[in-house]
Amino acid sequence: MTATDDLIAAAEAHSAHTYHPLPVVVASADGAWMTDVEGRRYLDLLAGYSALNFGHGNRRLVEAAKAQLERVTLTSRAFHHDRFAAFCEQLAELCGMEMVLPMNTGAEAVETAVKTARKWGYRVKGVPSEMAKIVVVGGNFHGRTTTIISFSTDPEARADYGPYTPGFEIVPYGDLTAMRQALTENTVAVLIEPIQGEAGVLVPPAGYLPAVRELTRERNVLFVADEIQSGLGRTGRTFACEHEGVVPDVYVLGKALGGGIVPVSAVVSSADVLGVFRPGEHGSTFGGNPLACAVALEVIAMLRSGEYQARAAELGERLHRQLAELTGTGRVTQVRGRGLWAGVDVHPRYGTGRDISEKLMDRRVLVKDTHGSTIRIAPPLVIEEEDLDWGVAQLRAVLGL
Ligand SMILES: Cc1ncc(COP(=O)(O)O)c(C=O)c1O
Repeated sequence: MTATDDLIAAAEAHSAHTYHPLPVVVASADGAWMTDVEGRRYLDLLAGYSALNFGHGNRRLVEAAKAQLERVTLTSRAFHHDRFAAFCEQLAELCGMEMVLPMNTGAEAVETAVKTARKWGYRVKGVPSEMAKIVVVGGNFHGRTTTIISFSTDPEARADYGPYTPGFEIVPYGDLTAMRQALTENTVAVLIEPIQGEAGVLVPPAGYLPAVRELTRERNVLFVADEIQSGLGRTGRTFACEHEGVVPDVYVLGKALGGGIVPVSAVVSSADVLGVFRPGEHGSTFGGNPLACAVALEVIAMLRSGEYQARAAELGERLHRQLAELTGTGRVTQVRGRGLWAGVDVHPRYGTGRDISEKLMDRRVLVKDTHGSTIRIAPPLVIEEEDLDWGVAQLRAVLGL
């Protein structure tokens, strides 16, 4: 038995089997590389589902965290602390919005957005009590809470968790007619990922998001963009919505906002929308804590420079150019994505996404499969060009090219 086998057996014996991880046990990481307990190095092409946009052990972020660790880490929101105002002000500014409601995980931020939209619906739009409806799209992934899985279309995510939360209507992604028909006078929000990450990096048809924006504006419905995975540099812009010139009413952010160090999420919107809350109506012990704010402030400063967005755009072009060559071979049936983010559908003849991921792992490249024969490529934005090229070369080799 190797150390890897021992650790995996112990993890399987003592943890609920909600995941099926690749058989690698990571011990340390730096930039785009991870090292396992046997000393083998792997190129990370997943980046913690975009939580590690700035790479493992990013010095600026680690220094910000260390400095804050020595000062104060938690106050709860019962008291003010000296990093909170700057965090809220600067995050709102980055988003072109006015107010921030901080939470911790992505799912909590989505829950918060759902509560925000309902409260806004009753207190501002004038929807009759208990009648608020939120429209979502098929194939969505917004997290794992009971309410969120209530409007999932993934049977695995939903099965045996009922009774489900009512108040949601699901329409097909990209179908404008269905969206138009779903909006009623009681609709308070459309909740949408501008690019669906977990579904396989699905980019909606051009013009769809602007049309939904127009519709929601006409009908006095909030456009809530879940940019938890697509936002903060991944697509070559700060937000994926920007590619289509869309400004939502509400951004839901998470993952990279915590720099891969601490969970930090937030709902960001106008004073009209977030102004609906009064003390005691929502909260979180850890949301907006000093350590989270200190790390997120550094993330915001890094994004303000535009450097990471530019890098994602440039390296993304390089990645997509190389992946496009694979589609010509017939071994890859489709490649989707934007910036440094790709969903690659491998022809099923060459294996499932899991098979491909395992073969890539043997070649020291770590990716995550999703649905059937799709793999996702989302390296840290700090990856070196030659490492990216090498990673794609390993995929070519796995496909027998
Ligand atoms: C678009 C989107 N929303 C929400 C979530 C949930 O985030 P968390 O896992 O931090 O709860 C995810 C996670 O993958 C996501 O991709």
